[in-house]
Amino acid sequence: MSAAGKSATITLDGKTAELPLLSGTLGPDVADIRKIVGQLGVFTFDPGYGETASCESKITFIDGDEGVLLHRGYPIAGLAEGATFPEIAYLLLYGELPTRRQNDEFVKTLTTHTLLHEQIRNFFNGFRRDAHPMAIICGTVGALSAFYHDGIDISNAASRDLSAVRLIAKIPTIAAWAYKYTQGEPFVYPRNDLTYAENFLSMMFARPSEPYVVSPILARAMDRILILHADHEQNASTSTVRLAGSTGANPFACIAAGIAALWGPAHGGANEAVLTMLADIGHKDNIPAFIEKVKDKTSGVRLMGFGHRVYKNFDPRAKIMQATCHEVLGELGITDDPLLELAVELERIAIEDEYFVQRKLYPNVDFYSGIILKAMGIPTSMFTVLFAVARTAGWIAQWKEMIEEPGQRIGRPRQLYTGAPVREFVPLDQREGAKMKVSEDMS
Ligand code: CMC
Repeated sequence: MSAAGKSATITLDGKTAELPLLSGTLGPDVADIRKIVGQLGVFTFDPGYGETASCESKITFIDGDEGVLLHRGYPIAGLAEGATFPEIAYLLLYGELPTRRQNDEFVKTLTTHTLLHEQIRNFFNGFRRDAHPMAIICGTVGALSAFYHDGIDISNAASRDLSAVRLIAKIPTIAAWAYKYTQGEPFVYPRNDLTYAENFLSMMFARPSEPYVVSPILARAMDRILILHADHEQNASTSTVRLAGSTGANPFACIAAGIAALWGPAHGGANEAVLTMLADIGHKDNIPAFIEKVKDKTSGVRLMGFGHRVYKNFDPRAKIMQATCHEVLGELGITDDPLLELAVELERIAIEDEYFVQRKLYPNVDFYSGIILKAMGIPTSMFTVLFAVARTAGWIAQWKEMIEEPGQRIGRPRQLYTGAPVREFVPLDQREGAKMKVSEDMS
């Protein structure tokens, strides 16, 4: 961050505040409002934080108008094409792509941390059989903090790194076991001879009673899905992780907070919602009526998998996801998937429709990811869980960056208060209507 040498000026009641403009490497300059309250006595108002840079970061850059997504400067397309998920996790955490030696060491470290403490198995039994796996992973990741006391010294760099590795390594095991638990199947332990993506598929689908061979096609697709979801700047769940972390809370608790924020259908729950929506539409012939419903603001219906707070152009991840979707279905021999046909037609109609054009609503990453995951045999309830597995790398990298920032402070937004002005306390028996209410209740 450097001062752009320019400033913006706000004048209020004869008082003037100079807001220095700060320049990043890419993206628009940012007006520094930190002194505005002292100089003018007013707060700024930005519900939803759409116009607010909440932090300085070197990890991920998005240009929403151009449809650009960079991790540490590298465009997402090249990373998804040429790297593996552990390489991306390393890049997010440490700022550079690993050398061969660094990669081997990092993969080995991750691999040796995939097991869970045996007592963690007991947590699963506390959940109802039909619990949503997001509820299970949210609780279990939070509970990890009870097992790794040595990882809770957030002022120690080695300790922070160890927590990061533990989280990235263990989250697939927790996720797969959450699924196995809801299926009533035995937990499958991680295998050190498999890659990160293969291991996750093995823990999801292997059974002790028969050999399981991981399909290289599915493993590559899984790896790519993990890469595409690994980090995405200061989105709702990442901002939640940063806010929780700013209090000094331990990283396991912070990631559990991020998982909770990811769960909602406006965020990570969208790919699950896309499939529900496609099932509700049912047939291509019903698309026009559905689009009309979406455009009718009183219906409360949205086209799930469309639109993004930042992208006002194609989400670059959606393009890769669309290509991967065709690849996976092709390689699995699924040539006439009705859901895919429906999705392609829905996308075609929507991107030509004036409503979506005017509002710059394009397909986002979730529009196609659900279809791929379904084809791979991943149940719908696990879609958001998979997103959480991938995003753990980004969350913990962002948490680490925040903790390592000099002068890091607790996050504490202010508000525009519109409640009652000061009023005098009235004791219970003197409140209007109190007597009548009591006698009604007693009758
Ligand atoms: N369908 C229909 N209308 C929409 C949609 C949609 N999916 N998204 C936005 N709009 C309309 C919205 O009604 C508003 O119209 P108007 O200006 O007439 O009031 C306008 O577009 C702007 O919408 P907004 O709600 O101000 O936009 P936002 O930036 O607050 O919301 C969003 C972003 C992602 C929550 C929203 O586009 C949405 O709900 N999309 C569907 C859910 C979805 O696919 N979410 C996944 C996001 S990508 C994965 C991730 O990174 O988490």
